Amino acid sequence: MTEYETILVEQRGRVGWITLNRPQALNALNGQVADEVAAAASAFDVDEGVGAIVVTGSEKAFAAGADIKEMEGMTSAEMLSTDHFGAWREFAAVRTPVIAAVAGYALGGGCELAMMCDIILSADSAKFGQPEINLGVIPGMGGTQRLIRAVGYYKAAELVLSGRIIGADEAERIGLVSRVVPAADLLAEATALAETIASKSLPSVYAAKATLDAAMETPLAEGLAAEKVAFAELFDTADQKEGMAAFREKRPPHFVHR
Ligand code: CAA
Repeated sequence: MTEYETILVEQRGRVGWITLNRPQALNALNGQVADEVAAAASAFDVDEGVGAIVVTGSEKAFAAGADIKEMEGMTSAEMLSTDHFGAWREFAAVRTPVIAAVAGYALGGGCELAMMCDIILSADSAKFGQPEINLGVIPGMGGTQRLIRAVGYYKAAELVLSGRIIGADEAERIGLVSRVVPAADLLAEATALAETIASKSLPSVYAAKATLDAAMETPLAEGLAAEKVAFAELFDTADQKEGMAAFREKRPPHFVHR
C-alpha cells in the first residue's frame, strides 16, 4: 500500500478508513493532506472490495481548517494558478459513499471537507463553523455553496458572515449533520453505518449516490429523468435479480456487486 505521511489509511472488511493525522496542527489541511486524502480515496474508489469510506480525525479535531500558515503569504495569482484546493475536487468526485465521522473542531476547510462527504456523523463534542471571515477571507473549499444547500440561505449566511461556531446539537437541528452520537461511540457508530452501506449491492449504491449528487445540481425535471434512467439501468444487474428473488423467497440477499 502507498506510504502516506499526513493520514492513516486502512481497510477493514469492505470499509476504507482515512484518518487525518497532523495532531500538531489540529489536522489543518495543507496541500499534502489534500493530495494524500484524494489519492487514498481514489484508490479505495477503484477497489470493488470497498463499499464505503470513512474519513475521520482525532478526538480534538476533525480538521481546524485549511492550513493558514501555508496560505498566509500567497498572492491572488498564485492561489488561482496553483488551483490551491483543486485536489479536493478529486476527493469530492468519488463514486463510493463517504461518511465523515466528526469529533472536535470541524472549522473552515474542516467543515467543508465534512460537507464533501455524503453522511456526517457527529460526536456530541463536535464544533462546526466557517470562521474564515475572521481571517479576512471567505470559505474556499465549497463552504459558501454546500452550506446553503445543506441548511438554507439564512442559516448559511449567518454562519459565513459572522464566523459563529456551533455545537453538534445546533448542527443537527439545522440539518448540517446526519446524526449526533456520544463521542465515545463515534467510531463504533461510523463502523456500523459504513458496514451496513458496504453490505449493499455496489451498483445500486453507486447509482444512489450519483443520483443524490445530481439533485444538488439539477432542476427537478432533469433530476427525475436521471433517476428514471439510473433506476432502469439497475434492472440489468445480477444483484437486482438476486435482491428481488431474495425478497420473494423470504431470505437475505447474497449480492455479487454486479
Ligand atoms: N492552520 C494552520 N495551523 C493551525 C490551524 C490552521 N487552520 N488551526 C490550528 N493550527 C495550529 C496552531 O497554529 C497551533 O500550532 P502551534 O502550536 O505551532 O502554534 C496548533 O495547531 C494548535 O492550535 P491552537 O494552539 O490554536 O489550539 P487551541 O485549542 O488553542 O485552539 C482552535 C483551537 C480554536 C481550533 C484554533 O486553533 C483556531 O482558531 N484555528 C483556526 C481555525 C480557522 O480559522 N479555520 C479556518 C482556516 S481558513 C480555511 O479553512 C479556508 C477555507 O475555507 C478552505
